[in-house]
Amino acid sequence: MALASLKQILDEAAKGGYGVGAFNVNNMEQIQGIFKAAQELESPLIIQASFNAVKYAGLKFLQHLMKAATETYPDVPVALHLDHGPDFDRCKTCIELGFTSVMIDGSLDYSSKEKKKPARSFEDNVAVTKQVVDYSHQFGVSVEGELGTLGGIEDEASAQKVMLTDPEQANAFVEQTGVDALAVAIGTSHGAYKFKEKPIIDIERVKVIHEKIPHTPLVMHGSSSVPMELTEKLNTFIVVSKGKDDEGGPYIDFLGKKYYIDQDYSIARDMVYDLFFKNRLKKTMGVPIESIQMGIRNGVRKINVDTDGRLMVTTAILEVLCSQPEKFDPRDYLEPSREAIYNMVKGKILAFGSAGRSKDYKPKSLKRMKKVYEK
Ligand code: G3H
Ligand code: 13P
Ligand code: ZN
Repeated sequence: MALASLKQILDEAAKGGYGVGAFNVNNMEQIQGIFKAAQELESPLIIQASFNAVKYAGLKFLQHLMKAATETYPDVPVALHLDHGPDFDRCKTCIELGFTSVMIDGSLDYSSKEKKKPARSFEDNVAVTKQVVDYSHQFGVSVEGELGTLGGIEDEASAQKVMLTDPEQANAFVEQTGVDALAVAIGTSHGAYKFKEKPIIDIERVKVIHEKIPHTPLVMHGSSSVPMELTEKLNTFIVVSKGKDDEGGPYIDFLGKKYYIDQDYSIARDMVYDLFFKNRLKKTMGVPIESIQMGIRNGVRKINVDTDGRLMVTTAILEVLCSQPEKFDPRDYLEPSREAIYNMVKGKILAFGSAGRSKDYKPKSLKRMKKVYEK
């Protein structure tokens, strides 16, 4: 088994000048697809679950799925990481479950009932992050902290107001907390809707932060590329258009087939149209791979990807269900979803430069990492 700590994986990445993908998981197929890609390309890996994912799959289920993967793929050095740990208690729960690394997201106040969370003060962020660091390091578990806030509209880890990371504060934050890695806000956001026309990512800020804290690996959240081919493909499965022609009057075009309707059914027609058309993905842009590669050249070592995986899975499933509507065996559409994730992760591993790096080092046990922290 090649369980590794996040600290070791990222420190090795810093030595080698590459980045490591941190992929979010919720189910078995995602875990299997990601591990298969890492194994084939001999890449280290960070597999991460948000607390919502832990709740969705069930604490024990997710723990055992991840454990099964580490046993099946013993050559992949892998960190099991909690993404956006909202508070000390939930970080502690995941450490007890066997995660080798946690993120405490002290940048936001997760106790707020609002959908978008208010930012926490620098002092409060330092206090909760240090509490998690002191606890985790006793067990050799690594900690990622976050300074600055990311926007985004689809998940809980979205701030009411975007605040880019202040490089001076980054220095003080790392000194006062002892975090192993720092997530920085540089203009990216979570979810599919990052940029409308042109991505604006503050690589200059990454450079300055890296100069201030050269020994702390930086983390880029919200790093999905949201490829246009993918969103366009996804839209083709759900587009309904309405029209009128001489042959049979008004119709709904659903997946390329015309369904003629009587005027009396116009309410139903509008309902179907709203249901499908309004739910289409809007035009959007994600983070270009080149920007991530520039980040990597300037100290980014962990690259968080969730949305691209979600889009891949959904597109693969819709493709089967729409082209072969007679299928109802879940394996018929879950297998292609596993394959889609596998292909996506392979592409990211190659782009981030971590391919062929898994044999560069031997993963240190958490016991050994504990000794590293004691020094
Ligand atoms: O940054 C957040 C991740 O994309 C996880 O989202 O809380 O919906 O699992 P989630
Ligand atoms: P994306 O939504 O861009 O995939 O970002 C995921 C993320 O940052 C998880 O922490
Ligand atoms: Zn994130």
